[in-house]
Amino acid sequence: MTKKTPAPVLVRHVIWFGWKLVILLSFALCFFALLRLHFSSENSASSSPNSFSPARARSQISRDNFHGPPKIAFLFLARLNLPLDFLWGSFFENADVANFSIYIHSAPGFVFDESTSRSHFLYNRQLTDSIQVVWGESSMIEAERLLLATALEDPANQRFVLLSDSCVPLYNFSYIYRYLMGSSRSFVDSFLDVKDGRYHPKMSPLIPKGKWRKGSQWISLVRSHAEVIVDDEIVLPVFKNFCKRRPPLDTSKGKLNIKLQKQHNCIPDEHYVPTLFAMNDLEGELERRTLTYTMWNLSAAKMDNRAWHPVTFNYADASPIRIKEIKDINHVYYESEFRTEWCRTNSTCVPCFLFARKFSRGAAMRLLSEGVVGPFEASSLLGNLS
Ligand SMILES: *[C@@H]1O[C@H](CO)[C@@H](O)[C@H](O)[C@H]1NC(C)=O
Ligand SMILES: *[C@@H]1O[C@H](CO)[C@@H](O)[C@H](O)[C@H]1NC(C)=O
Ligand SMILES: *[C@@H]1O[C@H](CO)[C@@H](O)[C@H](O)[C@H]1NC(C)=O
Ligand SMILES: *[C@@H]1O[C@H](CO)[C@@H](O)[C@H](O)[C@H]1NC(C)=O
Repeated sequence: MTKKTPAPVLVRHVIWFGWKLVILLSFALCFFALLRLHFSSENSASSSPNSFSPARARSQISRDNFHGPPKIAFLFLARLNLPLDFLWGSFFENADVANFSIYIHSAPGFVFDESTSRSHFLYNRQLTDSIQVVWGESSMIEAERLLLATALEDPANQRFVLLSDSCVPLYNFSYIYRYLMGSSRSFVDSFLDVKDGRYHPKMSPLIPKGKWRKGSQWISLVRSHAEVIVDDEIVLPVFKNFCKRRPPLDTSKGKLNIKLQKQHNCIPDEHYVPTLFAMNDLEGELERRTLTYTMWNLSAAKMDNRAWHPVTFNYADASPIRIKEIKDINHVYYESEFRTEWCRTNSTCVPCFLFARKFSRGAAMRLLSEGVVGPFEASSLLGNLS
């Protein structure tokens, strides 16, 4: 019996000591937490105009530390390399280096250097935080946002042009520079499409049906509109949930197809930016058209009842006459709205298109040799391609 008593006493002592320790620790933790709260609130108070908002920090930068000419940021969305780099290289050769910057979103880990690119302007212009993009899915919008966010870090970037890896310029640099800088509006294709049924009722109320828009993904933005896209935290999550591409018909899936083909179909990159801008009441600050010409294959749409398909320009399609026809287009008709958009920048009539897609290498070679982006020197081409 006597042997047993010390044990409980010891246990009780240990327990009591344990409780004291816990209480002491709790007090200490509370104290540190209060201390941290105090200091962090002091910190944010001292930098209060931009508190923690990256958006405000950016505007601050762009107002205070921006000297020199405003730049166009060329933002390339690439699958891998840029196959038309020889044409773009020649285009940038005829520019002032102080007037532009280049950013490329490519497959994660892909590096632009001597071995992958024929233009030194592209070396190391890839984003370091690029993501895997699935064409036609919302990862495409996220890649666009990454490009815009990175380009916004340079306060000199005042215009932001989104381009694909098959896009070509239809003019030399100085023409495109004057065209874009001469307008304080963004160029965003945006129209109502009542028939397509891509709006999902569950998007309401965050995205009201009346604000649903459609338009080309290939946009050109002024700085404040680029910020709206990068700072959006409301519309993008809704798109991720309710705007998804229906998988294409796959006969190997048999009966599963019946179910799959009933799924709601939505192409995020054709709706996101125009819808976001309509929701932010920015349509009055836009030229509601794209600067990038696309030739559509209407017969393909009629035949297999699918979406329109862009036609790829080959060498034979890129004749001077055909290119001139594209450059001479001065208005666009929006059938679903009975709206004719006369192409203007800053109230002056201008050609509608500065860029075109989709161009093969042969077609791009022809543009180059015809001096579309600048005076053509055969020797420079040989140097570029060797
Ligand atoms: C650029 O193109 C425009 C219009 O096509 C032309 O008038 C101008 O001379 C060209 N500028 C240069 C530097 O080649
Ligand atoms: C570069 O920018 C300056 C200032 O905006 C402008 O005067 C000049 O014409 C631009 N150069 C080209 C090649 O566009
Ligand atoms: C637009 O045109 C007006 C009048 O010609 C001019 O004063 C203004 O500077 C132009 N805006 C831009 C952004 O070039
Ligand atoms: C248009 O699509 C049809 C059917 O898919 C195809 O046969 C034709 O070659 C296409 N035309 C062009 C110019 O690509």
